[in-house]
Amino acid sequence: MLRALERYKGVALFDSGVGGLTVAGEIMRQLPFEPLVYFGDTANMPYGPRPAWQVRSFVYRIIDFLLTQQIKMIIVACNAATAAGLEYYRERVKLPLLGVIEPGVRAALAQTRNGRVGVIGTSGTIQSGAYQQVFQRLAPHITLFSQACPLFVLIVENELTRSPEVYGIAEEYLSPLKQAGVDTLILGCTHYPLLVEVIGAVMGPEVKLISSAAETAREARRILTEMDLLHPGGDALLHRFYVSGPAKKFSAAAVKLLEKEVKAFQVILDNEAPLLV
Ligand code: DGL
Repeated sequence: MLRALERYKGVALFDSGVGGLTVAGEIMRQLPFEPLVYFGDTANMPYGPRPAWQVRSFVYRIIDFLLTQQIKMIIVACNAATAAGLEYYRERVKLPLLGVIEPGVRAALAQTRNGRVGVIGTSGTIQSGAYQQVFQRLAPHITLFSQACPLFVLIVENELTRSPEVYGIAEEYLSPLKQAGVDTLILGCTHYPLLVEVIGAVMGPEVKLISSAAETAREARRILTEMDLLHPGGDALLHRFYVSGPAKKFSAAAVKLLEKEVKAFQVILDNEAPLLV
């Protein structure tokens, strides 16, 4: 009986901003009956340049908030937050909790033919060596080339993806990976699928671009199925969106990305009890 009620709870996702919506969109496609609870920590965005301890301190507050929201699973829809310490978050939470790095690595392994894989991400993710560690564990024969692209998140959050300078910035970041002859490139930041056109144009059509969103959604479906927690459907679907920064700006971006009606609410997490603004 209890298990039956658990199925109706939400799947929670969080990111520093709109990037995690690329994962949310994929969950909506693959798990169309699951109500989502999304948190965008826009007041603290970007996470990428921050030290891991600070990112973890933001994540702890987000998780504490999400746990008040009737949820059955947490997806860390942010590479920088995943790299800062998935194992720490798992210690604090009894629910299934998954990150985006391992699913991205698995998707890349399924694609590469020449064993030369690139990964791009925020400075925090690249410096953490989190991707190297997962490749080392799952496929030590792969040669991994990493590149931080710190401006990409700000380009996406400020809706500058179509500005003329972006191509040159992308070319500067990506040319070492092109020269290295990678045949597969992991978009190791959930914001980067929103720059897929320019990244694809720079890398060329022969390089496969990997977004971890689809693989993460598959993993979420596998876990929910295994735990008998899939939503049975039949209810009117109610997604909830929360942000720590201004809600209007986030809602407008989310409507464009998800092509759905989104009304986000601002929540201040600095207080002991979260304050809904
Ligand atoms: N979207 C986040 C990621 O996947 C990072 C963005 C940020 O730097 O805040 O890494």
